[in-house]
Amino acid sequence: TKIAVFASGTGSNYEAIMDQINAGQLACEVALLVCDQPNAKVIGKAEELGTPLFVFDPKQYESKATFENEIVQRLQEQGVELIILAGYMRLIGPTLLAPYESKIINIHPSLLPAFPGKDAVGQAIEAGVRVAGVTIHFVDEGMDTGQIIDQQALYVEKGETRDSLQKRIQAIEHRLFPQTIQKLIEEQAETGERGASI
Ligand code: GRF
Repeated sequence: TKIAVFASGTGSNYEAIMDQINAGQLACEVALLVCDQPNAKVIGKAEELGTPLFVFDPKQYESKATFENEIVQRLQEQGVELIILAGYMRLIGPTLLAPYESKIINIHPSLLPAFPGKDAVGQAIEAGVRVAGVTIHFVDEGMDTGQIIDQQALYVEKGETRDSLQKRIQAIEHRLFPQTIQKLIEEQAETGERGASI
């Protein structure tokens, strides 16, 4: 299975996916890394690991539809079947959503539907919740609103800071994301579609 990873920042989830592919635990190939931030750290990582890159600056395009059209073209050229949003800080528009309906998944650092949007970890600390977590979900036109695929919770410790919670949440993400992608690929292979258990 050929997948594309979309990222805007550090790319630690991209790295975790590559690690699991190289360890033989995840049966896919990252055929394209799409990045909308020309200075993002993830770009150097993709160069190092030999993943084909499409880096673009949204400001250079007339509209979201224009750059998403170009993304769709590149995805089709590479034969991408599944899109993984790993810290891609942008809503997906209809141009990209329509051809990849139920083929786009996102990871979000909260137990959705709590704390959608930016700085979910900061929002959780601010709200004083005792339980935080990670959600992996299908992407629709909303902000972190699509159908939930999997979640993992953790307790917020006494005296926990945004940074300490973020670190522990990321450690969960790096395990859960590759595992969930593998399950999805297996189920899609069996049923040809979105699996029955999801
Ligand atoms: C992750 O915490 C993810 O949940 C959120 O953005 C962050 C991306 O981190 N959507 P990284 O770029 O993979 O390190």
